[in-house]
Amino acid sequence: MNLVVVGATGRTGSEIVAEASGRGHDVVGVATTSDTVEDVRVYPSEDLPELLDDADAVVDFTVPEATREYAGVIAEAGVPYVVGTTGFGEAGIETLRAASESIAVLKASNFARGVQALLRVVEAGVEALPDYDVELTETHHSGKRDAPSGTANTILDVVDSTREAALERTHGREGEHSREDSEVGVHVRRAGTVRGEHELLLAGNDELLTLTHRAESRRVFAAGAVDAAEWLTGQEPGWYGFDDVL
Ligand SMILES: NC(=O)c1ccc[n+]([C@@H]2O[C@H](COP(=O)([O-])OP(=O)(O)OC[C@H]3O[C@@H](n4cnc5c(N)ncnc54)[C@H](OP(=O)(O)O)[C@@H]3O)[C@@H](O)[C@H]2O)c1
Repeated sequence: MNLVVVGATGRTGSEIVAEASGRGHDVVGVATTSDTVEDVRVYPSEDLPELLDDADAVVDFTVPEATREYAGVIAEAGVPYVVGTTGFGEAGIETLRAASESIAVLKASNFARGVQALLRVVEAGVEALPDYDVELTETHHSGKRDAPSGTANTILDVVDSTREAALERTHGREGEHSREDSEVGVHVRRAGTVRGEHELLLAGNDELLTLTHRAESRRVFAAGAVDAAEWLTGQEPGWYGFDDVL
């Protein structure tokens, strides 16, 4: 497969370049400036349209503003598009949805297989314990831009859809007021080089259940993203998630 990795110089993008090259794919990178990563050539963004002529898939781990810009170019070229970037507002999601009318777009907030399993376990736990308090804590490295993480938002969406009512998301707590039954606490920590940890706490009836996922290296995201690109090649235009791949 000819793969274009957008954000190839980044923490995750460079792991994706290594993973895809290791699997024998022909890889080129794109970033804001030209560079070399893992002996793979990285081209500046302006060269993307030309690189798409020979591409079978694009993987994008950048920033929302870059993804929004790239989506139109990639849709025009008709190349399947794997998006790992997080932190989109509604307009960003709309742009990707529009692209999915002409190309296969696979967007996931987390390409770890364990997180897909966690989402199923969260659904089961919240369903089994309908009156318990729910609190979410996530921890990432100090360089992460968006908060809460895309994965945290996905977990919270699963809680809402399982409870069949959106809980009020309380981000951190301060001051003097007790917890309302209608709220879910969301706690974000940014420190050091933590790859990504998510913990959902369910508490009530004198007991406590915690559901935790911890990524031990970025390789887990890189492996999942390359699995997704291999799977997406040849899919019909449309909107896909990582669970479709699994
Ligand atoms: N879905 C998942 O499983 C998953 C896992 C990990 C991370 N992520 C997400 O992936 C994204 C990247 O994370 P990271 O930690 O790898 O970030 P990072 O280390 O900061 O890398 C960002 C990359 O994006 C490029 N970039 C930045 N601004 C750009 C612009 N305006 N136009 C074009 N390219 C631009 C950078 O290129 P230069 O070096 O040239 O500036 C760099 O290659 C984040 O949204 C993060 O939340 C998702």
